[in-house]
Amino acid sequence: MTQIIVINFGSQVAHLINRRIRELGVFSELVPYNITAEKIKKLKPKGIILSGGPASVYEKNSPQIDKKIFLLGIPIIGICYGLQLIGKNYGKVLPGKLKEYGKRKLKVKKQGKLLKKLNKKEQIWMSHGDLVASLPKDFEILGNTDTCKIAAMENNKANLYGVQFHPEVVHTPKGMQILKNFVFDICKAKKDWNIDLASKLIGDVKKTVGGNAMIMGTSGGVDSTVAATLIHKAIGKRLYCVFIDHGLIRKNEAKIVMDRFKKLKFENVYFVDASRVFLKKLKGVVDPEEKRKIIGHTFIEVFEKKVLELEKRHKDIKFLGQGTIYPDRIESAQPSKEASKIKSHHNVTLPKKMKLKIIEPLKDLYKDEVRKLGKELKLPREILYRHPFPGPGLAIRILGDATKERLEILRDADHIFMQELKKSGYYDKVWQALAALFPIKAVGVKGDARTYEYIISLRAVTSKDAMTADWAKLPNSLLERISSRILNEVKGVNRVVYDISQKPPATIEYE
Ligand code: XMP
Repeated sequence: MTQIIVINFGSQVAHLINRRIRELGVFSELVPYNITAEKIKKLKPKGIILSGGPASVYEKNSPQIDKKIFLLGIPIIGICYGLQLIGKNYGKVLPGKLKEYGKRKLKVKKQGKLLKKLNKKEQIWMSHGDLVASLPKDFEILGNTDTCKIAAMENNKANLYGVQFHPEVVHTPKGMQILKNFVFDICKAKKDWNIDLASKLIGDVKKTVGGNAMIMGTSGGVDSTVAATLIHKAIGKRLYCVFIDHGLIRKNEAKIVMDRFKKLKFENVYFVDASRVFLKKLKGVVDPEEKRKIIGHTFIEVFEKKVLELEKRHKDIKFLGQGTIYPDRIESAQPSKEASKIKSHHNVTLPKKMKLKIIEPLKDLYKDEVRKLGKELKLPREILYRHPFPGPGLAIRILGDATKERLEILRDADHIFMQELKKSGYYDKVWQALAALFPIKAVGVKGDARTYEYIISLRAVTSKDAMTADWAKLPNSLLERISSRILNEVKGVNRVVYDISQKPPATIEYE
C-alpha cells in the first residue's frame, strides 16, 4: 500500500526523492502534478511530498497544485519548488536576488519537528531562483542561510513543512534525517517495503494466476530474468518462456541464455531461431528508424506466432508475463500534462490481440531494487550486473545495411572487447561497452598486399542513468591489447578506433 506520494513537479528530482523514501523502507509512489485532492483521498497516503522542479511558480503555464490538497489534513512537505507552492498558497514568493546553486551552510534556528537531530550548522544543497519572501501566517522559520531567509519552515497545526534546499541529494548529508523525521515522526509511516519482497511478489503471482499458466518472452537481460525467476518460483512448470534469437544478438548469447535457464531449472523454455526472417526483412535497409520499426514489428509477429502455437497445445495459458519496471511505466520527462503517465510501451500493444492478461511483477521497482531482488532470488552476479543491451541489438551498431557478413565481423570484435574488459576488471567499472562497425572500407596493409576493410569503433561509457554519459578512460595498455587482438583475430577489419564522444551530443548507441 502506498504510504507516501511524491507529486512530480519536475522529473529527475522527483524520482530521486521517491527512491530515497523507499530506501527508508517505506513504499512511495510518484504521481503527476495534476492529481486531484479527490484522487489522493482515495489513495489514503500518510504523507505527501511536493517535489522540486525547474519552473517558477509565477511563470505562465507552470505546474500548479489542486489547492484542496492542502485541506486534506495529510502532512505535506514541499521541497524547493514545492516549498514555493506552499509559499504562494499561504504567503508571498519573490524571484530571488541571486540564483543559488551548490553547497550552502544552513543555520538551524529551531529544530521543530522537521529538523530534529540536526546540528546548529549543517551543509545543504541549494538550487533555486525564487524565494519565499514573507513568512506565511502560522509558520515558523526553522533555518536560514546567508542569502535565504526561509530555508526551512513548518506549521505544526496545519501539518505543513517546507525546505528550500534539496534533502534528497548526497550533498545534503543530513537530508535523510530530515526525510526520516517527516516520514516516521510526522507522517507516522511504517516500514513495509523491501521486507521479504520476494515472498510477497511470489505470493501475489500465485494468487493472480491460480491454476492457470503463463507465457513470457525472455531476453536473458536483468529485468526479464528476474521476473521469470520470480514467476517460476510461483507457478513452476506452468511458466512457458520464449527466447527469440533475431540474429542480432552477441556471440554465443543464445547458448549462454538457454544454459542459464537450464541451470535455473526452468522446465519449459522455447528457443525460436528467427534470424533468417529478421535478416531478410532488414536486407538493404539503412534508415535507423526504419530498422527499429522492422525489428520491433517482426519481433511481435514471431512472438505472436509462437504464443498461438503454445496456446493451442496448452489451453491453460491465460497470462502474459513482462519484465516492465517502474521507470518504463512512469514518464521521466519534464513536467507537463504528460508527466508520470503510463508510457506506451511497445510490449503493451501485444496482448490486446492475444487476449492474455498481463502480469508485471516488477512494475513498481527501480533497477537497483530489481537487482536486490535478483540477489535475494540467488541469481548470479553476471546476470544482475550485465550491461544494458538494446532490443534492436547489433543492427543499430552497424551504421547501414546489417548483413550477415557484417554481423559476424561485429560479433567477433565485440566478443574480444567484452573478454578483455572482463579479464581486466573494467567491465564492472563502466556503465556500458560496445563495438560498432562502420560500413566503409579503409585502406590497410597486410603482408605485402593492400587491403580495404571495415573499421571497428569501440565505445565504453561511464554513466549514472544513461541520460548523460562520458567516455571511459580505459588504460592505454588495455586498448592496445584489444585493438591488437581484433586486428589479428577478426577477418575483415583493418582499423580500430576508440570513441571519445560525450553524451550529449553523441548517444551511447550508434543509431
Ligand atoms: P542512447 O543510445 O539513446 O541509449 O544514448 C541510452 C540507453 O538506452 C539503450 N537503448 C535501447 N534499449 N531498445 C532498448 O531496449 C532500444 O531501441 C534502445 N536504444 C538505446 C542504450 O543501450 C543505452 O543503455
